[in-house]
This record gives sequence, structure tokens and C-alpha cells, in this order.
Amino acid sequence: MRLRVNGGNRLCGELNVQGAKNSILPILAACVLVRGEVVLHNCPELSDVASAIKILEHLGLKCERNGDKIRVLCGSINCARVPESLMREMRSSIFFLGPILSSCGRAEISMPGGCELGPRPIDIHIAALRRLGALIEDERGILSCRVEERLKGTQIDLWFPSVGATENTILAAVLAEGTTVITNAAREPEIVDLADFLNACGARIYGAGSSKILIEGVNELRGCEYSIMPDRIAAVTFFSAAAITRGEINLKGVKEEHITSSLSILEAAGCSIKVGGDEIYLKCQNRPRSMNIIKTMPYPSFPTDAQAPIMSLACIADGTTMFVETIFENRYRHVCELMRMGADIKTEGKVAVVNGVKRLNSADVTCTDLRGGAALLIAALSAEGESNIYSIEHIDRGYQHIEKDLRSLSLEVERIE
Ligand code: EPZ
Repeated sequence: MRLRVNGGNRLCGELNVQGAKNSILPILAACVLVRGEVVLHNCPELSDVASAIKILEHLGLKCERNGDKIRVLCGSINCARVPESLMREMRSSIFFLGPILSSCGRAEISMPGGCELGPRPIDIHIAALRRLGALIEDERGILSCRVEERLKGTQIDLWFPSVGATENTILAAVLAEGTTVITNAAREPEIVDLADFLNACGARIYGAGSSKILIEGVNELRGCEYSIMPDRIAAVTFFSAAAITRGEINLKGVKEEHITSSLSILEAAGCSIKVGGDEIYLKCQNRPRSMNIIKTMPYPSFPTDAQAPIMSLACIADGTTMFVETIFENRYRHVCELMRMGADIKTEGKVAVVNGVKRLNSADVTCTDLRGGAALLIAALSAEGESNIYSIEHIDRGYQHIEKDLRSLSLEVERIE
């Protein structure tokens, strides 16, 4: 399956931002802890969401989707084992470990596959769960976990503010006995969304969004109705597409405070940006300027997920932009595909130096991962002529019907089965 792009047109129009992939996934995992019915709104149609739903149904929960609404009938978990086939479908399924262990007193999952971004260790997850009393053995890539009686709250310091490990720890602590304090917690907005959802179900979580989170264990969580936050990375992706095509876009439903670091980089590139309530209008009339140095760091600094989309913009900027990728060790796999389009990029370890060229050439390219695929699509939109983008299942993991959205923004993109 591929996307055929006829590049060289200006992006122009208005779009509602999809619900956040990296918020709905841990919230779906949290349903394992809940009794009763959960109704989620603003759910994006993504293959990762479908994978998470498959895991929930495998565990015995009932899920039904109706447009952007997902209804989950919780409380009937009858299995504590997630087979490798389901774990491998989605790297981020590791945060099912905490809730299954908390609900069943045991859990068996296969180590989530390494992925395109490099080995995805889970040592921070394991250390935190062990602090809560979990007994965890790793044999031949299968994690067998159990807890004598009930997980017990305690003080947990994460040596790195891992998003997934913070989420896993919250999910394991929320029904534990006593209080848990997480220090050096990740501060991403998706953590706040997870905590808000759990608190709406009766949890007692304080300080989400800061690096110190306090969780008072409760005995039960009841179903609730909840709306997923907007996807901040999808927002930056569409802003990059508007900027690279010297177009204009009005994005609705996006929260400015989630993307201030990216907005200041887009302004440095010469975009004009107007914020009004939960709408942000961006226009880029001239060739973007170089963005100097862009370093990916934990929130609220510039997010690693926006590195690839912004790099495409840097490829045609007037000047040199240097990227320093501090979060993942192999997150430049889109570079060689961008070079096939005429980009001038040199990488050395965590550093990528992009010398802007006047224009990119259309070409046939292949996605290597989700955000790298988005970067190739953005680059193809700016290159005159026909480009074909292969392995777009990577893009479908994180962007719902991307070709439909881009066509609604006056661009020529079609999906060829
Ligand atoms: C989440 O991944 C996101 N995924 C990623 O988005 C995002 O890039 C990442 O956070 C950073 O913001 C979801 O939320 C589903 P981490 P996660 O644990 O939790 C190392 C996308 O494109 N680490 O914060 O896996 C790890 O190797 C995806 O939407 C350990 O060493 O990220 C990485 O170098 C990609 N040991 C760094 O920490 C651990 O136990 C950050 O990882 C855990 C992580």
C-alpha cells in the first residue's frame, strides 16, 4: 500500500486535530482496572488503537467503536497473559503490564519488540513495579510477574523521566495499598490526561504534569465518560506541512500550551502564528529560515516525536539547521529517504546537520517508522511532481486517514492499495 503525492501545491484550509494517540493508548490500558462502563470520546482511528482494543478483548473486556466514540465494558478480565502476537503489534503495549498485574495479581507478557527507534528497554518500568512489590522474572523474552497479595505504595524515583514507565507506575499504584510518590516523573500532557481519566473513575492522583506525582491507593475504580486530549504531535505535523508548502492552516481543537516549544521553532523559521482559544492559525509566505539548533528533550522542551516532521521543513530552509536527538538512539532513519529527494543532511550519532536546499525532488521513498513516515509525506508535498510513499502502515499507526485530511486541505494525495 502506498500514498501517491502530486507535490508543489499550497496547503490551505481548516482541520480539527485528531485525539491523541499517546493519550488514548494508556487510557485504554487503564480500563483493565475499572469496573462498569467507560465511554471515550475524540478517539482517533489508528491501527495502534485497534491493537490496544484487541488486547483488551483478549483479556475479556468488551469494546465497541462508533465513530470517534469507544465504549468499553470493563470489570470482566479473565486472562492475565498477553500473547507475543498482540504485544508485537504495538511497541507501547508494555503499559498493560501494570494494570493486569494490579487486577489479577499476576501477568505474563512477551517483551515488546524493539522497534524502528532502537532497542526499547523497559528497565525503568520493571524497577518501578518491583518497588511496588511485584516479583518479575524474564525468561526467553517472556515477563512472568506476580504479587503475593496486593501491590504496596512506596517512594519511586525514575532515573529517567520515561513517559511509559511513569504511566505504568501510575497504573500499578492507583489500586495499590497505601500511597505512592513518583519522583522524576515524566511531565508530558498525556500523563495529565491519564491522571484526569483515572481521577474521573475515582482515583486519587495529585501532581500529574509535574515531576512529582502522589497517588493514594483506592479500592475500586468505576467507569466514566471522558474525552481524549488533542494530538499535539499531529498538530505540529500539519503545521510543518503548511509551512513547507508556503500555505496556511487553521487548526482547531489544539492546545497552545502543549506545543509552545514547537511553535517558537516554527516562528523562528518565519511562520506567522495567531492563537485564538483552541484554534491556531499558521501561515508561511516565504522560504522558511534556518532554525539554528533543535534539541529534543523531555516535555515541556521540544518533543522527539516532532523532530522528523520539522526536519523536513529544515531541508528546504534558507540556511543550516542542526538537530540533536537526545531521547532515542536511532531516530534518524528517515534521513536517507529524505536524501533520495535531494536533501543535504549529515548525521553523526545524535547529531544531524541539515543544509537547506532550494527545493526537494519528487521520488519514491519508503517509511521506516511513524514520524519518519510523516516527514517523508511532508517533504513529498513540497516536491514538484509525483512521489510515491511506501510502507505507509507506519503512518497509519499514528495519523487517521491522513490522505483524506490532506485532500481537505487542497493537496493532491491518494492511497493506492
Ligand atoms: C512514549 O514512548 C511515546 N509513545 C513516544 O511516541 C515518545 O517518543 C516517547 O514517549 C518520548 O516522548 C507512547 O506514548 C505510546 P520513554 P516511550 O519511555 O514511553 C529510554 C510516537 O511516535 N527508556 O519516554 O517508549 C528509551 O529507550 C512514539 O508517537 C529506558 O532506557 O518513551 C528512550 O531512549 C514514538 N528504559 C527514552 O528512555 C525504560 O524502561 C524515552 O523513552 C524506558 C525508556
